[in-house]
Amino acid sequence: MHLAPLLFTATTPATHAAMAIWVVAAILAPPVNAQDLAAPMPPSYRFECGSCHVPYPAALMTQRGWSDLLQSLDNHFGENAVPEIPARREIEQYLTQHANVKEHSFGSRTEPARISTTHWFRLTHGVAKKLFKDIRVGTVANCSACHRQAEGGQFSAENVTLPNRL
Ligand code: HEC
Ligand code: HEC
Repeated sequence: MHLAPLLFTATTPATHAAMAIWVVAAILAPPVNAQDLAAPMPPSYRFECGSCHVPYPAALMTQRGWSDLLQSLDNHFGENAVPEIPARREIEQYLTQHANVKEHSFGSRTEPARISTTHWFRLTHGVAKKLFKDIRVGTVANCSACHRQAEGGQFSAENVTLPNRL
């Protein structure tokens, strides 16, 4: 992991305090169960939901969030993301069966639902937050800018590569 440059450039006491809070918050955040993350994704999900961004693992949001999204795919963040009919059932099944059940941590806080607005995400991404608007990342939804193995459902800390500092 390439956190070292971040730590070395964080020199003011205020930044140190903020860093300390992030580190504690990240430790307190409930871990995502690796087994849940590894639940096999049907090819139809990869194809239909992984063409504009990585196919997000179901375990990163609760069923309520996924249902919200599935109901408004014709206007999905300004895009039409309605899947081909044969794929719909499979996608819904995958998201329903493997959704996270911890509403407090993995429930979306926004409309439309987002993984990036869950309590869990905010706690684990304190350090990365500053980089979401970096031109090499573009948007928080671009997980693979930092999680190089995101396409394959790998989000472990060892696989995080932060873009170099601005
Ligand atoms: C035509 C392109 C397209 C397709 C297909 C698509 N999406 Fe998206 N999706 C987007 C865009 C654009 C965003 C908003 C990205 C941003 O915030 O910059 C987004 C955002 C999301 C987010 C929120 C990311 C966050 O911030 O946590 C989720 C969850 C999501 N999509 C799920 C899905 C699912 C499930 C499918 C398949 C049914 C799907 N998407 C198919 C374009 C697409
Ligand atoms: C700007 C870089 C960046 C972006 C973009 C980003 N992350 Fe992360 N992510 C991190 C960092 C840094 C960590 C904390 C690694 C650690 O534990 O030290 C992390 C941690 C995680 C973890 C926990 C890993 C573990 O083993 O505990 C998951 C899961 C995760 N991110 C998913 C996502 C998803 C899904 C997205 C997109 C919606 C995303 N991330 C976008 C940088 C990023």
